[in-house]
Amino acid sequence: MRKLENKSVLVTGGAGFIGSNLIETLLGQNNKVICLDNFATGKRKNIDPFNANPNFTLIEGDIRNLDDCIKATNGVDVVLHQAALGSVPRSINDPITSNDVNVSGFINMLVAARDSGVKRFVYAASSSTYGDSKNLPKVEHIIGKPLSPYAITKYVNELYADVFANLYNMQIIGLRYFNVFGRRQDPDGAYAAVIPKFVKSLIDKESPIINGDGTFSRDFTYIDNVVQANQLAATVEAEKAINTVYNVAFGERTTLNELTTWLKEFLAEFDSDIANVEIKHHEERSGDIPHSLASIEKAKELLNYNPKYSIKEGLKEAIKWYWENLK
Ligand SMILES: NC(=O)c1ccc[n+]([C@@H]2O[C@H](COP(=O)([O-])OP(=O)(O)OC[C@H]3O[C@@H](n4cnc5c(N)ncnc54)[C@H](O)[C@@H]3O)[C@@H](O)[C@H]2O)c1
Repeated sequence: MRKLENKSVLVTGGAGFIGSNLIETLLGQNNKVICLDNFATGKRKNIDPFNANPNFTLIEGDIRNLDDCIKATNGVDVVLHQAALGSVPRSINDPITSNDVNVSGFINMLVAARDSGVKRFVYAASSSTYGDSKNLPKVEHIIGKPLSPYAITKYVNELYADVFANLYNMQIIGLRYFNVFGRRQDPDGAYAAVIPKFVKSLIDKESPIINGDGTFSRDFTYIDNVVQANQLAATVEAEKAINTVYNVAFGERTTLNELTTWLKEFLAEFDSDIANVEIKHHEERSGDIPHSLASIEKAKELLNYNPKYSIKEGLKEAIKWYWENLK
């Protein structure tokens, strides 16, 4: 597999879930890594292990501040832009802040990368861009109408990326992540993602609550597959593979009922009582699409993407981590 090695790489949002996993891999491959983060949702403990590494630099700053972005991109070969305010419900509660960070912050990063002569800019796009499209599996060129402010911000990123690539001759690639999960994903707070939230509830022997009857499905994607996709996007040479967007997923869908069954089964290996925790159901949440499933053909063909972890394999890894770190 092509790897990102011996480069100077800026990871924005590096104190977050995906960013900290990218940094961990990049430092292991002899890169110099700069992390730009304002700790809005990221955690210091996620990057604490890197502080002693002479190849790691933290810039505490905000992507809404152009000077911070310019400082962070100075001398950098590759940007892996992860900083954003995630969560659809957060953007529904506070659309202005989500827009400021996800759109204005994004343009700041593009301008800074352009002016610093960054060679490759890879950014976190989102499956939410498929909006109300009923098409399954999702293919990159068929999208629907956005269903949330968050989805708009992520789609606007794609529009800006395309225009910047053309106007300023930049090399930019967007990765539409599908429901990523794994070590260091935050289980706490109102905007926590479903897998860490349910794992934590089950470890605490509290009933996870499924919104709806549990038949909704998602293409849950283990973090190591996402790290692979970022490295491939950062290093691909073929012109037709650059200045475009890719689905990043495993390419299978799992219902919430299946998910909770597997979580209980795998956690019961650590504590057999967890098998008896009841799953509860509440009303469906507005704005939730029923099914999400990616076609990963484009990434396979143009990036040589080959996701190594199925959802079940990823869940086992993630559960091991949460068991060691939450207990
Ligand atoms: N986790 C998923 O399933 C998923 C799915 C699709 C897209 N994404 C995208 O992937 C990226 C990373 O998501 P994550 O799950 O790691 O979330 P996260 O919240 O763990 O990480 C985001 C990081 O960005 C930082 N940040 C936020 N606002 C900032 C600002 N103004 N300036 C500097 N840093 C800022 C946060 O402090 C945090 O460390 C985001 O762009 C998100 O929209 C994630």
